[in-house]
Amino acid sequence: MRATDAFGIGLAMVGATALGSACVDYSNMEPSFATLRQAAQAQGKLIGTAVDGALLSTDSEYARLLAEEFSAVTPENATKWGPLEPQDDTYDFSDADSIVAAALDHDQSLKGHVFTWHQQLPSWVESISDPDELRLALREHMETTMARYRGQIKVWDVVNEAVDDNAPAGYRENIFYELLGPDYIEEAFLMAHEADPDALLYYNDYAIERMGHKADFTYQMLRDLVARDIPIHGIGMQSHLSVHRYPAADDLRDNIRRFADLGLRVEISELDGRTSGLTGTLDQQYEAQRIAFQETVASCVLEPGCARVTLWGFLDEYSWLDDEGTEEHGLLFDDNYEKKPSYWGVMDGLRGKLAKRGPTLVKNGDFEDELDHWVGVDSTLSLESFEDQAHPVACARDRSSSESGLSQVDLLDAFASGGSFTFRAEVRQEGTAPAGINVALIVEQSGQDPSTLSLGYLYLEEGVWRTMRGSFALAWEAPPTSVRLSFSGPDPGVDLCITQVALNQLHPAPG
Ligand code: XIL
Repeated sequence: MRATDAFGIGLAMVGATALGSACVDYSNMEPSFATLRQAAQAQGKLIGTAVDGALLSTDSEYARLLAEEFSAVTPENATKWGPLEPQDDTYDFSDADSIVAAALDHDQSLKGHVFTWHQQLPSWVESISDPDELRLALREHMETTMARYRGQIKVWDVVNEAVDDNAPAGYRENIFYELLGPDYIEEAFLMAHEADPDALLYYNDYAIERMGHKADFTYQMLRDLVARDIPIHGIGMQSHLSVHRYPAADDLRDNIRRFADLGLRVEISELDGRTSGLTGTLDQQYEAQRIAFQETVASCVLEPGCARVTLWGFLDEYSWLDDEGTEEHGLLFDDNYEKKPSYWGVMDGLRGKLAKRGPTLVKNGDFEDELDHWVGVDSTLSLESFEDQAHPVACARDRSSSESGLSQVDLLDAFASGGSFTFRAEVRQEGTAPAGINVALIVEQSGQDPSTLSLGYLYLEEGVWRTMRGSFALAWEAPPTSVRLSFSGPDPGVDLCITQVALNQLHPAPG
């Protein structure tokens, strides 16, 4: 079915006004869809949203869009422990019941959210200090809740946000961890499985979308649970993105794939995109958000192991991102219920279209022209070859500070107009301990001190090549006078080696 709304109008305008100009070529355009759920269905995927029980019953336009556009829902708050069981054994199922009933009416899949989390717990649970009492409370809460919705809510987030890569042991120190130790995680999955043996049980967390320390810890934790036959069936990567800097599609896809290879279902479970970190006009922010959503949704659609994308709401006005007082414009529809560019980003992503990549903007990124265009910053650069690298490698040795490293200086033209970009590089450190590497753009504007825009950070084992990737967006308030790309980070004395550096502009795919 062809869309006849904003998309159709856009096409007509291209035909009428822009013939012969360097416009997008729509001639090979594939069929488009009237709603997100139709597009998702054509791919055999689910497109979901968080749902608010109060809005569902008071805002008919909200209820209409919810039914038309989405094939799956997750209660945003209604099935959390606090709202559901505010006093011991006293339940308030009203919001959850109405969300479940509406979803079943509209043939939408349901995901329940969530049993163990450090937030939105009832105060009577937070005041428990005896481990067995906490176990019993959790078991009874799961049994009552899962029995009520058995056969209706078939997927549950059982454990939420259990990993904290800054905590000494890597586990977030919530009440469950403090009273039961890290085994609370498997205990929770085992209890949930007993309460409803047919339900699919998920682990859910944020900042595990990109490869790195937290994702690696989570991967090892889940690999261990799977190896010991603990009933865990899926993982949700929340994906609360910042549109000025977010995981690159290739990185996200590799990460999705390694979890899927454990036999887990993978989902993007709480997608939204903060815009306040990006300077520039609202149009520029919207365009960056469109591309960030497109890249994230397409990554799921292109990976067979990824079954569902859930947005954390769809109307900007009601997004939790604004709860702190900053307007983030984080979702798909504006305050007039009109579709934003981000809606079309999700639509393109559901059609399996990644954003189009321009040519690399980095000169001599593979060092085939030796060290041309690269400089050492307070370090000595050397051109080397490694058996496990197909291209020459540049290493910064004798680094004198954590700012020292490698830099490409002449990138002003590439970035002068701003836009959305993605980068990758093969990186390695040679020191005596794990160390972090920073990739950044150093930007100068006339009359101002240089500012550093961090594009990514990766913690590296000594002597191991890793791929570092990220996507980002730029919009300038005042045009820069120089832009350079910099690799730096670890303490002096640690050597940094890089190769295959690429950095490409991203454009929404045509059609
Ligand atoms: C948020 C809700 O959207 C807010 O309405 C509520 O005040 C706080 O929780 N990670 C999660 C979600 O797993 O449950 C959170 O939802 C957002 C972060």
